[in-house]
Amino acid sequence: MPVTVVVGAQYGDEGKGRIVDFLAGDADMVIRFQGGDNAGHTVVNHHGEFRLHLVPSGIFHARATCLIGTGAVVNPAALLRELAELEAAGIDTSRLLLADRAQMLLPHHRVLDGMEEEGRGEHHIGTTSRGIGPAYRQKAARSGVRIGDLQHPQYLRERLKLQLPSVNRALAYFGAPPIELEPLLVQCRVWAEKLSARIVDPIPLLRQALQDGKHILLEGQLGAMKDLDWGTYPFVTSSNPTAGFAAVGAGLPPQKIGEVLGVAKAYQTAVGAGPFPAELNDQTGDRLRDIGREYGATTGRPRRTGWYDAVAVRHAAWLNGMTALAVTKLDVLDAFAEIKLCNAYRLPDGTRIDHVPDTPVLEEVEPVLESWPGWQQATTGARTWHELPSAARCFLERLQELAGVPIRYVSVGAEREAMFSV
Ligand code: GDP
Ligand code: IMO
Ligand code: MG
Repeated sequence: MPVTVVVGAQYGDEGKGRIVDFLAGDADMVIRFQGGDNAGHTVVNHHGEFRLHLVPSGIFHARATCLIGTGAVVNPAALLRELAELEAAGIDTSRLLLADRAQMLLPHHRVLDGMEEEGRGEHHIGTTSRGIGPAYRQKAARSGVRIGDLQHPQYLRERLKLQLPSVNRALAYFGAPPIELEPLLVQCRVWAEKLSARIVDPIPLLRQALQDGKHILLEGQLGAMKDLDWGTYPFVTSSNPTAGFAAVGAGLPPQKIGEVLGVAKAYQTAVGAGPFPAELNDQTGDRLRDIGREYGATTGRPRRTGWYDAVAVRHAAWLNGMTALAVTKLDVLDAFAEIKLCNAYRLPDGTRIDHVPDTPVLEEVEPVLESWPGWQQATTGARTWHELPSAARCFLERLQELAGVPIRYVSVGAEREAMFSV
């Protein structure tokens, strides 16, 4: 299939980065289609261990051209830092391109994100404070500036002149000093010098790539349960990390997408506030966090943990038109004598439902759990389905049955090689 989308099937941090790094060996292009540096995609390979925020996880493969797509919001300062870190580690970043129409996330978006979160008090979302909400809001208000504008200084000046009054009104509301146009333009000139050579119109590239039968991977950020429309609104991000948006965010006709690979952990984690039905606020949850090293790759926050929620993954499978599932972190369950999974929700009146309802209802549900015997032996060394203990295979078969899509990959460790196709 020429175009494959990789998306998160849970609440983020499913291991998308490691899956893309694994698959990108066969890819000619890898495109991040939404989000910004709120992402933390961990990749462990022979170059070392990396936490990628904006740069697509295909960057470690010499063959793949990497593109930060139109649907993303790009903080140039954060991107330059990330590129410098990769280069310091000996990674060639010359194949990293930026879509000219991607939105530019500016320093004041971060400031506003922090202040707005504080203003929400007990109703805070728990954002990553990277300015994602304010940047997408600016885009939707049509007062955003785009990466390509860096190449048109006079145009950029006019666009920023339009943007700053509303930004400064918002800053004044929080008692913060205003943003001045001239120093911001000086900053933009520096970014333009450093980034100009990477800025492209992606459409001609994509047309050519498809014409030549090249393989394109589209990399999502976060997961379906934090989708702006279909996640646990308002405890969501400000873009759509689902496959329907991948075509828009990359610049491809939707029919060209052949495969949609959903990534799910064999349990689940979430960062930030909002309903999380199968959450474990107990020693079992702590154990999952310890063994799975569940601390945010971007903010270092301890992740909330829970048993695998098959209702959420089925929701993600439907929304994404998932053609296959990749299950990660199976090895984290190796030591557990008993493993549970949530197969439905129970409403306060006792009714059982097997779909994800809107937030006010989701906040009230109890998970319906089923229990599975653990395998209590190491799976990290497994490289084929048959090398897995039979109890692990039974558990995975149950996940597959509940998701309604086949499991295509199983990951049993963080390193690139610790994975196999089924
Ligand atoms: P992403 O945001 O979806 O790319 O996921 P993160 O990188 O934020 O979180 C996944 C974490 O699990 C990272 O620390 C990975 O190195 C690690 N990881 C990924 N797959 C596996 C696996 O199969 N087993 C183990 N033990 N760790 C894994
Ligand atoms: P990856 O790509 C986990 C969460 C935040 C918050 C909500 C909104 O590594 O899976 P935002 O900063 O986007 O406005 O925050 O979404 N969040 C993530 N949680 N992994 C991420 O990215 C996340 N990106 C945002 O915790 O609940
Ligand atoms: Mg992450």
